[in-house]
Amino acid sequence: MKVGIDRRVNRDDPGLVQRMAFLSRSRGVARLGMIRFMLDRPVPSSSSDAAGSPHRRRPRYPGKNPRRFEDKYKEHDPARHAATIAKVLASGKTPAGTHRPIMVAEILAALAPGPGENAADCTLGYGGHAREILPRLQPGGRLLGLDADPIELPKTEARMRALGFGPEVFEAHRSNFAGLPQVLASVGMSGVDLILADLGVSSMQLDDPARGFSVKHTGPLDMRMNPRRGLPASAVLERTSVDDLARLLVDHADEPHAVSLAPLLAGRSFRTTTELAQAVRAGLPRLAEDVADLTVRRVFQALRIAVNDELSALDRFLCALPVCLKPGGRVAVLTFHSGEDRRVKKAFAAGRLDGLYAAISDEVIRPTPGEQSANPRSAPAKLRWARRAG
Ligand SMILES: C[S@@+](CC[C@H](N)C(=O)[O-])C[C@H]1O[C@@H](n2cnc3c(N)ncnc32)[C@H](O)[C@@H]1O
Repeated sequence: MKVGIDRRVNRDDPGLVQRMAFLSRSRGVARLGMIRFMLDRPVPSSSSDAAGSPHRRRPRYPGKNPRRFEDKYKEHDPARHAATIAKVLASGKTPAGTHRPIMVAEILAALAPGPGENAADCTLGYGGHAREILPRLQPGGRLLGLDADPIELPKTEARMRALGFGPEVFEAHRSNFAGLPQVLASVGMSGVDLILADLGVSSMQLDDPARGFSVKHTGPLDMRMNPRRGLPASAVLERTSVDDLARLLVDHADEPHAVSLAPLLAGRSFRTTTELAQAVRAGLPRLAEDVADLTVRRVFQALRIAVNDELSALDRFLCALPVCLKPGGRVAVLTFHSGEDRRVKKAFAAGRLDGLYAAISDEVIRPTPGEQSANPRSAPAKLRWARRAG
């Protein structure tokens, strides 16, 4: 019988977190929290281990290190490969298949979760914020986690259960956040004490080429948060007129080249993310490479927002917020582009004038420079909060 060395992470090893902290110290402490989160999973006993996970060969990939998202088997299994995770985080990147929660301290300060309170995390994602909020609601509090994504939601639910959050404190709901009132009604709640929305896409969605959000890797031009509903980006682009596309590029991404790009893209059939990116670059041949890259990103962002009807979902959510919050309840919304932030700012200001909110954030709150350099994806984030009148 072959006896293998168990390379699994032993979380009881007192030196483990220190060793990983050493690896990541050069780039700040945010990473340490992430490592703790990713490792904070129950480790099966060695007997169930031996029975439960037969030895599997690692996937084959060309070259020395895996490059493709699906081949990064160590990053997909952070509990087993702590040193790899620490290295990826120390380089300022997000390990494949995970997401690093943004502005956690600022969100906790705005929401001030307390024992016995109920919360709705309307964009559950990887569960990064939810797993920080939940312990602060105990004893006696509950958190409902909503997400539109039927692919990632079950994985996050399993991760939350493995962390010890049972159905009495945590429930996952596959729902658009515009349907928050219906979700609350379905569980017999008239309102909650705190609501969080962290808009946009998760790193798991963004980095997985199969989801078609990625500018960097070839994949089907899809971009749907719920691939079981609606039309993929390829079909949306094929059906959009030149004028509508030009408007969409300006409204959703402030694209300065909208008018020249729209006739080159609208009504055309692009099967993959790479085909679309190449068409954008070919349409603006005089742009420097880095400027063209930004344009490609903006085109992808505008299209993604259209495919998922993100701004109308946000409008409906902002409109429903006051009835979903209990008196004195708090809401925090994290946005990633000006079209979203403008809407949140306006809705909170109008709610304050109408007496629905007792207080709102005076200024937008931004991630610290330390967080921005440790996690470049946090750089565009803007946080606003409001407190329901009592
Ligand atoms: C930035 S991620 C959230 C990450 C999460 N806060 C964490 O720390 O792990 C945004 C998530 O919101 C979801 N989402 C985006 N728009 C949504 C909508 N209208 N309704 C429900 N979920 C939505 C996406 O599927 C994605 O999982």
